[in-house]
Amino acid sequence: MKIANVVGVRPNFVKIAPLIKEMRRYADIESILIHTGQHYDVRMAGQFFEDLQIPLPDVSLEVGSGSHAAQTSDVMKRIESVFAEFAPDVVVVVGDVNSTLAAALTAAKLQIPVAHVEAGLRSFDRTMPEEINRLVTDAIADYLFVTEESGQQNLLREGVGEQKIFFVGNVMIDSLESSRASWEKSLLHTRLGVERKQYGIVTLHRPSNVDDEGTLRGLLEALGEIAQQIPLIFPVHPRTRGRLQTLTGLRHPLWFGAENLPAKGICCLEPVGYLDFMALVAGARIVLTDSGGLQEETSALGVPCLTLRANTERPVTVTHGTNQLVGTVPQEITKAALSTLSSVRTDFQVPPLWDGKAAQRIVAILRDLPTRTPRRSSKGKS
Ligand code: UD1
Ligand code: UDP
Repeated sequence: MKIANVVGVRPNFVKIAPLIKEMRRYADIESILIHTGQHYDVRMAGQFFEDLQIPLPDVSLEVGSGSHAAQTSDVMKRIESVFAEFAPDVVVVVGDVNSTLAAALTAAKLQIPVAHVEAGLRSFDRTMPEEINRLVTDAIADYLFVTEESGQQNLLREGVGEQKIFFVGNVMIDSLESSRASWEKSLLHTRLGVERKQYGIVTLHRPSNVDDEGTLRGLLEALGEIAQQIPLIFPVHPRTRGRLQTLTGLRHPLWFGAENLPAKGICCLEPVGYLDFMALVAGARIVLTDSGGLQEETSALGVPCLTLRANTERPVTVTHGTNQLVGTVPQEITKAALSTLSSVRTDFQVPPLWDGKAAQRIVAILRDLPTRTPRRSSKGKS
């Protein structure tokens, strides 16, 4: 069984780590890791390989940043010859980013079966670039591994055959649990001078929240109000970094730097490595975010999460976990945060199969697949 695994961005590294580890346990699997280079800063990429003990990529495509079309087509052009040469029995893609779509599309056109990990999630909002990536990837994938019940339902409704869908749990939680002993040793709290449960965490990077100055300003005004009650630590995504630095005239100005944190206010940091970040999230009193992965991690950790979006493609984090959708209206965000800070949540459960064993289930299914599908052996490539 030859498996080509593809990653490109920060959350992809978290998802692929347990899969690679599991694949390497079996002598009958020959796996390679292809890194598209969509994310490339040490703090967005290299640090994750180290923290999650991911072997260095076998192939680096170094596509870098660009428009959606440029990035997607660059990955397609560069990955085609890698697939042709390695001739995998299956290509594994994770998540919903441009690299996911590009790799899946290239493999499908080469008639190589595609396995999509984290299939079926839908926000039903096609203004999100990720929703387009999810819809197209799932339409052409051969094996669809879903993290939650809604994923199965969405795929069945879209006409995907039941035999292609596998409810396996969540590889993000595999990484969270398998590295728990490491992140529990993080010293970042001491370095920042914050006490557990006496701070909040913020992350923001969705284009709909950060690319429009008016929306971003509104969000920061709300966060500034909340930060008068509890200090907020804000590791800033590179998409958001430039926009924050040019934003002036906020009622509660931002604080940049990781030393001598103010007792109140929003403190902006560089993106934090995985182990330090998980320690910060586990110790937080509240998380305010537009991240997909963070909605899941807070649910698994039992940390209250306010999602600053109108929708979520991960509804199980609301029905079972600690997530609450609060939208982007500043007054609503402040109200929800103050209510969260004055109560203790006990009414949550870790979603079904988020037990740290999703990669085991996925690899067991992959090992059972035929090494030559009828599609590939019948007529060859055109
Ligand atoms: C991408 C994904 C998004 C995912 C996010 C995870 C798409 C369409 N979007 O968004 O779904 O949630 O990654 O973090 O695939 N940049 C750097 N250094 C880096 C990477 C990016 O400075 O290492 C800057 C560049 O200015 C770049 C911008 O960030 O133009 C955006 O990067 P890009 O990968 O296009 O999208 P993200 O917002 O990171
Ligand atoms: N993360 C991290 N450090 C940070 C921010 C995020 O280690 O400063 C990790 C965390 O595990 C999170 C994942 O990166 O779930 C995904 O991050 P991001 O929000 O960029 O992507 P999304 O999940 O929204 O696609």
